[in-house]
Amino acid sequence: AIIINTGPPGCGKGTQAPKIKSEHCLCHLATGDMLRAAVAAKTPNGLAAKKAMESGGLVSDEIVVGIISEAVKKPECKTGFILDGFPRTVVQAEKLDEMLKKQGTKIDTVLDFNIPDEVLVERVEGRWIHAASGRSYHTKFAPPKVPGKDDITGEDLMKRKDDNAETLKSRLDAFHKQTQPVIDYYSKLKKVTTVVANKPASDVEKQIRNAL
Ligand code: AP5
Ligand code: ZN
Repeated sequence: AIIINTGPPGCGKGTQAPKIKSEHCLCHLATGDMLRAAVAAKTPNGLAAKKAMESGGLVSDEIVVGIISEAVKKPECKTGFILDGFPRTVVQAEKLDEMLKKQGTKIDTVLDFNIPDEVLVERVEGRWIHAASGRSYHTKFAPPKVPGKDDITGEDLMKRKDDNAETLKSRLDAFHKQTQPVIDYYSKLKKVTTVVANKPASDVEKQIRNAL
């Protein structure tokens, strides 16, 4: 299956993706995680993306479409994938349609994580991530077993540079202006399932399981 997780920063896209993945045997393709890895490795894409990411704006369509078109070719993505944080502009959505058309596949469901902007500051300010895997934790809502350490590898957790109240404003602005039209685009195609994301993670997981 091909599933898209969409919603504002901190809504839970990355938290829910691995849960959907284990049940539906899909690849988890998170453009944010891939871009952060590129920034850390100082690749040409990473160097080009760094400024936009740190200011809370969007990286160019050209870069992210390039990353995704490579990623979907991986053998483990043959049975399907879950897109987390992509597409974020109508241009990206159109490019994705072209890509899938060529592969003879199509999008099954777009999960639209609905949540009020006001609760997202606490979500992002309390987040800790394990950079290598993209796993995220939260000081209050999803604490790691050992503070500051990843549950699975025991490696150090870190903060994202864009996880502060100031940058969140720009990220939300980008979401409302550039990504809401993408949701409208998929609504017209009757692909969208709304998820009530302002609930405990286990409840959100149940909603998704029922929807798929
Ligand atoms: P990206 O990494 O995609 O960031 P984002 O969209 O801002 O989303 P987040 O990762 O912040 O939120 P999430 O929904 O995954 O939340 P999570 O599950 O971790 O993108 C970063 C940047 O890269 C962009 O700003 C842009 O510059 C660039 N970029 C990426 N893709 C791009 C694209 N396609 N085009 C152009 N540029 C692109 O949860 C958040 C926290 O809340 C965690 O601590 C978690 O533990 C906790 N939590 C999760 N669920 C719950 C719950 N139900 N209850 C309580 N706490 C919860
Ligand atoms: Zn994420």
